[in-house]
Amino acid sequence: MCGIVGFVGSEPAAPILLDGLERLEYRGYDSAGVAVLSPEGRLQIEKCKGRLAVLRQKLEEQPPMTGCAGIGHTRWATHGEPNDINSHPHVSENGRVAIVHNGIIENYVEIKEFLLHKGVRFRSDTDSEVVAQLLEYYFTAGADIMDAVYQVLERIDGSYALGILCADAPDRFIAARKDAPLLLGYGDGCSFIASDVTAIIRHTRDVSYMEDGEVAVLTKDGIAVYDRLRRPIEKEHHLVDWDVSAAEKGGYAHFMLKEIMEQPEAVRQTVAPRLQGGRVVFEELSLSPAYIKGLSRIFIIACGSSYHVGMLGKYNLEKLMRIPVEVCLASEFRYSDPLIGPDTLAIVISQSGETLDTMAALREAKKRGSHILSIVNVVGSSIARESDDVLYTWAGPEIAVATTKAYSTQLVLLDMLGLYMADILGRVPAEEYAAIVTALEALPDKMGAVLSDVESYQYLASQYFNHDCVFYIGRNLDYALGLEGSLKLKEISYIHSESYAAGELKHGTISLIETGTLVVALATYAPLFDKAVSNIVEVKARGADVVALTTESQRDRMEKIAPNVLTIPDTHPILQPSLGVIPLQLFAYYIALQRGCDIDKPKNLAKSVTVE
Ligand code: AGP
Ligand code: GLU
Repeated sequence: MCGIVGFVGSEPAAPILLDGLERLEYRGYDSAGVAVLSPEGRLQIEKCKGRLAVLRQKLEEQPPMTGCAGIGHTRWATHGEPNDINSHPHVSENGRVAIVHNGIIENYVEIKEFLLHKGVRFRSDTDSEVVAQLLEYYFTAGADIMDAVYQVLERIDGSYALGILCADAPDRFIAARKDAPLLLGYGDGCSFIASDVTAIIRHTRDVSYMEDGEVAVLTKDGIAVYDRLRRPIEKEHHLVDWDVSAAEKGGYAHFMLKEIMEQPEAVRQTVAPRLQGGRVVFEELSLSPAYIKGLSRIFIIACGSSYHVGMLGKYNLEKLMRIPVEVCLASEFRYSDPLIGPDTLAIVISQSGETLDTMAALREAKKRGSHILSIVNVVGSSIARESDDVLYTWAGPEIAVATTKAYSTQLVLLDMLGLYMADILGRVPAEEYAAIVTALEALPDKMGAVLSDVESYQYLASQYFNHDCVFYIGRNLDYALGLEGSLKLKEISYIHSESYAAGELKHGTISLIETGTLVVALATYAPLFDKAVSNIVEVKARGADVVALTTESQRDRMEKIAPNVLTIPDTHPILQPSLGVIPLQLFAYYIALQRGCDIDKPKNLAKSVTVE
């Protein structure tokens, strides 16, 4: 869970590395560093705790690094506290080998002990340093650097994306990957590695994705890739069509706000190409009607907000398809000996397509014979590549750690998939099908309407930003929606919050409600509006301060009960959460803003969780 970038070409490497790291900083930001190899083979390293700006400042205060080959890293510490010494790159004892690493070397203790016995002195507390030291060990024992790399890869367990610089080969660097993302970029007279395409898109759009076990040697003239047995392989090239400006803030104070505002367009991009003549069409799907008709059960597997999409999906898919749907946290699923097989469909949801737990769960489901259909945003990501079918969300790059537009596009795509499969099963009446399609067509404009007035959210945030505990309650779809609202608030504002099924509150948690406790009551799910009202009355009776979210058609009724009422336009009930999530995102955003939090890069988090 970090950002790696590497460059070799004919211009100074350091500025290119820093620029790339800036775009990767959302992946990890507790420390940063670069290593640049001078033409005469001297390794120059600068690294430090803190944001990239600290590193940049340090570099500006010294003579520029010379050399056109280098590697850089922004860290999200797993082993060893974030400090200058534990920052990457790590250098071997004789100073001839430098590495950057993303992932975890699981057997590092054993390797460290082995090397300590050989007299090697370690500097850091990280797992990663063993890679640099072991490389030196094999290298000085007579291997050439590529032999040494293969010997090291043979010996280490765990996950890694590695960038390796060796002072004895100043015109090149080496990359390797297993269970952590890494892509290769083919420039004009230069070559790159990067954890994600945003780091290099200014320089090249011609990329290929490294697979597990592959090793690449990068020079300014090109990239040679080898498999586990060191046989040369031809990589498939992909052209990235993301717009450079899509990965920039474009005048917004934060990426999160920009991405919230982009939701109508993102949803339009996801929906429009898949609606043709009033029908939902998935040209990219290989699922046959016979297979869909033979399904006994569906599993939805994901982490975090993607899991919350799955929670909503369970209600909607079961309603539409009348097939049992289980929603599983990927980190639990993978170790649960799951009852999944050829007659079950596994729907795997991931924005990044690189979440390690989700990836491992996918492999577990695949091993047991299940068909894997993934809903992914990042094109060519690991999860997309290992799936039998992929539905891309086309949300464009999402940079803020807290997801917004990816969540919305995943959600609408899952609903469309449910409708599509329910139709094949013959379980949606024609009028219902038409009503949902009409609602899908109107959805982006309705999202735009919610976003056109942010003042009410700013006002409420100014009233409540000092609270230290917030409850979200709701029933059915509103319960699943509350999970996401609560997570948004927690991750960016650091306010403790819980989301509860409203009917469950009185079975224990209501004891925590006291005078002034803030309860965000969700009452957008029309069939259970009256039940939601009863639960609001219950918490009010215990002194809670209530912010209620409902639909425009229910505003008058709600205003008689709740002191603060937010509304969203009415739509088909299964799509209502696609509108309901926007006020929750904005509420969390403006509260975090009032509290002076670092919204795009919340503490302790990183965008892409590529460690277990
Ligand atoms: C949500 O705001 C979080 N950043 C996090 O929960 C995220 O949804 C989760 O880590 C899953 O990521 P993925 O969709 O890239 O797999
Ligand atoms: N495990 C390594 C460390 O803690 C790498 C972490 C990362 O991927 O950023 O330094």
